[in-house]
Amino acid sequence: MTERDWKVVNPGGSHRVVVTKELPGARWLQLLTAADCRVEVSRSTEILSEAELRAAFGDHCDAAIGQLTERWSAETLGALRAAGAAIYSQYAVGYDNVDVAAATRLGLPVGNTPGVLTETTAQLAVALTFAAARRIAEGDRVMRAGEYHGWLPGMLLGALIYRATLGVVGAGRVGAAYARMMVEGHKMDLVYYDVRLNAELEAYIADYAAFLVAHGEQPVTCRRAATLRELLGACDVVSIHATLTEETRHLIGALELAAMKEEAVIVNASRGPLVDEAALARHCRAHPRFRAGLDVYENEPAMAPGLAELDNVVLVPHLGSATTWTREGMATLAAANVAAILRGWPMWRAAPGLEDVLPFLGDEEPPHAAPSIVNADDLGLPRIAAQAPTKEDQQ
Ligand code: DGY
Repeated sequence: MTERDWKVVNPGGSHRVVVTKELPGARWLQLLTAADCRVEVSRSTEILSEAELRAAFGDHCDAAIGQLTERWSAETLGALRAAGAAIYSQYAVGYDNVDVAAATRLGLPVGNTPGVLTETTAQLAVALTFAAARRIAEGDRVMRAGEYHGWLPGMLLGALIYRATLGVVGAGRVGAAYARMMVEGHKMDLVYYDVRLNAELEAYIADYAAFLVAHGEQPVTCRRAATLRELLGACDVVSIHATLTEETRHLIGALELAAMKEEAVIVNASRGPLVDEAALARHCRAHPRFRAGLDVYENEPAMAPGLAELDNVVLVPHLGSATTWTREGMATLAAANVAAILRGWPMWRAAPGLEDVLPFLGDEEPPHAAPSIVNADDLGLPRIAAQAPTKEDQQ
């Protein structure tokens, strides 16, 4: 890449911050400029290789904001640290592309952007569920091809998702939000599979069941499956929200798909490698009434051969967090992590996984803290003192 491929903002700033993609919104640049940063933003829409990342840091770089599409290996993080960086800040909530253990060994904080993607990503999973079940993409293709010649009783019949059984694999933030949207909206019985019990979700659904009974309706139910196979066999819709690790790679393969109902819907808006995509393509080809909605792919941006030819698969290009509010919020949080570390500020008050990041997102002066550093506790970084709840918190 040449110098023309980089945009420089606040050239006189004393901290050099490399940003590997242009980010939406203006707030993030204001935060970095206010922290006396010279911000160098790559204009490229290509995924930067590790060699290009290392060339971009050069021998002096105080911080980098990078993408989930890039590989941040021990070697690349080592080069960043050697260039003097105080933080690597990921523009994403997920960080399976980052060797966090290596960063911790190097003493390098790794930031991420939780709390602004939850509803947005859950809504995309809901949209994919219905797009697959109700054959929205097929209908769109029929219209565009001029093949709609009048209403027919048997045209593009799909599955009714109402009072059916919902399976959620991974009931963390996004999985639980998706579960609530589907259960409340469509009165589904929930089965979830997670190494951890989600007591809050279970209590929420128990309260909703009581509400339905009070209105003269059948309750909904919620249970945690003992095994993934048990969930797969029981559910009409299965949505994957697990974290990608070496253990969860190909969590769903040919055997798991074979355990599912013949006319089930599977959705993945989490990480592509959780599903064996070639096995999914084979399964969808052999079972035309089975449907899949995919936002993520095993080898992004590529797709398994044959997937694109299947009418019972709905495909979108990793749009889970693609709303203006969320993507601008992610930029703000990624920049706030950098600004806070460069200024020597402590970590935000909540523990990882429980962040309330809204105070960072308005136009007001943000809290003097880093919103989310995933290895903060391992690095022994200090946390801001717990604050007495404000009036707004209590409302
Ligand atoms: C993330 O932040 O991990 C998402 O995949 C981006 O959409």
